[in-house]
Amino acid sequence: MTARPNYDLTTIRQQDLKHHFHPFTDFASFKDTGSMIFTGAEGAYVVDGEGRRYLDGIGGLWCVNIGYGREEMAEAMAQQARQMVYYSSFGHHTSVPAAQLAAKIAELAPGSLNHVFYGSGGSVANDTAVRMIHFYFNRLGQRSKKKIITRHDGYHGSTYLTMSMTGVAFDHIGFDLVGDGLIHRVSSPNTYRRPEGMSEAEFLEHLIGEFRAKIEELGAENVAAFFAEPIQGAGGVVVPPKGYHRRMADVCREFGVLYVADEVVTAFGRLGHFFASESVFDMVPDIITSAKGLSSAYAPLSATIISDELYDVLSVPQAEGAMFTHGFTYSGHPVCCAAGLKNIEIMEREDLCGHVREVGPYFETRLKELQALPLVGDVRGSHFMLCVENVADKGTKALLAPEIAIGKRIASECQKRGVLVRPIGHLNVLSPPLTLTRQEIDVLVDALATSISVVADDLTREGVRLS
Ligand SMILES: Cc1ncc(COP(=O)(O)O)c(C=O)c1O
Repeated sequence: MTARPNYDLTTIRQQDLKHHFHPFTDFASFKDTGSMIFTGAEGAYVVDGEGRRYLDGIGGLWCVNIGYGREEMAEAMAQQARQMVYYSSFGHHTSVPAAQLAAKIAELAPGSLNHVFYGSGGSVANDTAVRMIHFYFNRLGQRSKKKIITRHDGYHGSTYLTMSMTGVAFDHIGFDLVGDGLIHRVSSPNTYRRPEGMSEAEFLEHLIGEFRAKIEELGAENVAAFFAEPIQGAGGVVVPPKGYHRRMADVCREFGVLYVADEVVTAFGRLGHFFASESVFDMVPDIITSAKGLSSAYAPLSATIISDELYDVLSVPQAEGAMFTHGFTYSGHPVCCAAGLKNIEIMEREDLCGHVREVGPYFETRLKELQALPLVGDVRGSHFMLCVENVADKGTKALLAPEIAIGKRIASECQKRGVLVRPIGHLNVLSPPLTLTRQEIDVLVDALATSISVVADDLTREGVRLS
């Protein structure tokens, strides 16, 4: 992991500050502090320009599932680049890895989800799903069936359409949304923040009833699809009440609404299975969208995976000379597909899903210990997708003032201790590489626990009341 210092860090920092327009960035603090510059990575660790090593509790951005620095991944991609770096997959063209990976994904995906449309990221995968769904209902002659139902705190991406489908209110501040009248929302299945006095079972009934009422209000003949992450990620690692997805899928079937499982985070091992929909949540959606762990972020790659039933309608020769005019220059890019294939080969050979199933409960148990600390209102999630919700008052669940930036404050304490955790508002999220050992989990959890205690003491000294 020797970072070759063939550059000057001060120059890099200046170049980045002046010319690199970063995604999802608070420019007030960015302009003061600049970026943390990463120069090396191996296993579950990343290294910064000063040579400091950090255990990456974020897995890049919920994506480096097999860990960093895999020589055979670099070799598979290099080999494909040498052999045949690119040809378009538009029309009747393909490459060896694009065909092989599609077959492999179809083998791993549940039910009749046998057809793979490639893109370069999760947003593109979801945007693609919407275009396919609208085209599908047009082809069936059900032209009014267009509306999409998503959930508050759902995250589906950052293209104009997928950000409009996203239900994280913070992400909409200062922007416009598209699809007026097209996108509709129901509640997040957040049991921690469920209405006061409602049991979990009652909450489930409430959510199912709300969904049914929403479809009836909009008219089933106008509702095309429901998009849901199995566990809401960026919206707060929200694990729904038991049976939720199955019941929501039943409502979808009853009203002829397609169910799209956004498995951009949950697929490829994070919950201990290649796909979580059937294996964890006991339901088979009509479409699964996936990205991130599909290539473990060694190359940009996503898949919109659709059922035989949908494919049969979408692929029939079309009237009026119309074609399925959807696709991207980099759909099925051979180097990215070679990365996807090698990634799955490694996951299978090392049984990373089995490892997550075995070690995940230990991770959960260890993290739950933090519940006893001041500030910690809730610890939740599953396997390698976990989060701590920080609050000012554990009884009322009241939040701290936003200017305290509690998630960031705790994350910077962790950073001082050589551990990276992700701050999202008042939350700290953990989504490390799936290779983490029990010892590494201990390092991660212990650093987070110490950081929370240090921040709680500091806040108390500053006169902030915690209860
Ligand atoms: C559930 C989910 N869907 C979609 C996306 C968008 O993926 P991308 O950033 O690759 O476009 C994300 C990104 O974090 C995600 O978490």
